[in-house]
Amino acid sequence: MNDNRAILKSAILSPDTFINATFKGKRKGLSPRWEKVVIRPVALKGVYHLQFSYFDGWHDVSKNYRGDDLLARVDELLAEPFASIVIHTTTEKLRVQITKKGKLILHREKHAAEKPCPQLSHDRTKGLIFPHGEPNPFLHAVGIATAEGKIKAKMSDKFWQINRFLDLVRQTIATDTLPDRPLTVIDCGCGNAYLTFATYYFLTEILGRETRLIGIDVNADLMAKRNAQVAEMGWHGLEFHPAAIIDFRPETPPDIVLALHACDTATDEALAQAIRWGSCYIFSAPCCHHHLQAQLPPLSAVENPAYKSIFRHGILKERLGDILTDSFRALLLRLTGYRADVVEFISTEHTARNLMIRAAKTNAPPTAPLIAEYRGMKAFWGVTPHLETLLADILQK
Ligand SMILES: C[S@@+](CC[C@H](N)C(=O)[O-])C[C@H]1O[C@@H](n2cnc3c(N)ncnc32)[C@H](O)[C@@H]1O
Repeated sequence: MNDNRAILKSAILSPDTFINATFKGKRKGLSPRWEKVVIRPVALKGVYHLQFSYFDGWHDVSKNYRGDDLLARVDELLAEPFASIVIHTTTEKLRVQITKKGKLILHREKHAAEKPCPQLSHDRTKGLIFPHGEPNPFLHAVGIATAEGKIKAKMSDKFWQINRFLDLVRQTIATDTLPDRPLTVIDCGCGNAYLTFATYYFLTEILGRETRLIGIDVNADLMAKRNAQVAEMGWHGLEFHPAAIIDFRPETPPDIVLALHACDTATDEALAQAIRWGSCYIFSAPCCHHHLQAQLPPLSAVENPAYKSIFRHGILKERLGDILTDSFRALLLRLTGYRADVVEFISTEHTARNLMIRAAKTNAPPTAPLIAEYRGMKAFWGVTPHLETLLADILQK
């Protein structure tokens, strides 16, 4: 057992051959402090460090260590009750399963040919995916920046939106929890497709994942233009289909579903489809919310003094409708086996539609308190969310 620990430490602490290591999973009845920790080498001011990214489910906190600290940090991870460790080196892959008694079972797979050491670029994981002012062929190709990297005045909001969106995606998707095969992504209501193209660029160019990305939108003209743009750029794996979200039947269920500012109930359609497809991740920035608002009672019918003042003011009633719609959506995602939260997508300085519902599949069954919470909320407000109607068959089970 000790030998195996020594082998793992040596693999991680050998700068000439180490590529990355992932600690994850939990041993039966035990909970490690983090859901997952990824270690990879980075060069900071030209000095070799190991970067430890501690992932607690939503947040990714990265810390860089070197020298004597490294052994202590690796020992700290080995003492946590993780269920598996995978280490990639230039010569082999080490896979470790840890039994509930803490015994390390090591499997070693030699690579057919030696892999190159990772390029240690300056650590940019905390920075922008598209640094401001840095020339980038993608930003130039989609018309956001000039060839020299200057962001076009009219595209500034889009530039920040793309950066923030990809940052959220980067924080949320743990690259090694995505399936180890080409990815399928569907962008529902993709419109002009800036975010579709940006996601494609991120997955293929930055994460190096082979990706088929399908944009769908009811606007057939837009879809034809986007397909023409893809052909002109010579990009592979990107396609656009004119379709209503709810009617779209993909050949392969997508791993990731995007729905960014899809209007009103189009967001519900995208969420319902993603749930049915069993997608690993959903990123949805809601747009306008009319469906549930229309079900809220008029001021004259509100008796509870705690709410009368909200219903008296149109804008407050409207915002209440928005909040309720998204609360119901997040709750329905949790009831259908997702971990879901609502975060600020981008500051209101750039767009008023600034929320994002993001969800990761856990397959956790709905609990009685959660079901009671949902029913209670519905009964209290006297409304039926559109997403519930779309998922009626699943929710009845
Ligand atoms: C506000 S735009 C957002 C475009 C893009 N996702 C973005 O964030 O920049 C909304 C898009 O959703 C499309 N849309 C609305 N309802 C839809 C539906 N039910 N099915 C497919 N597309 C829909 C519209 O045609 C429009 O292009």
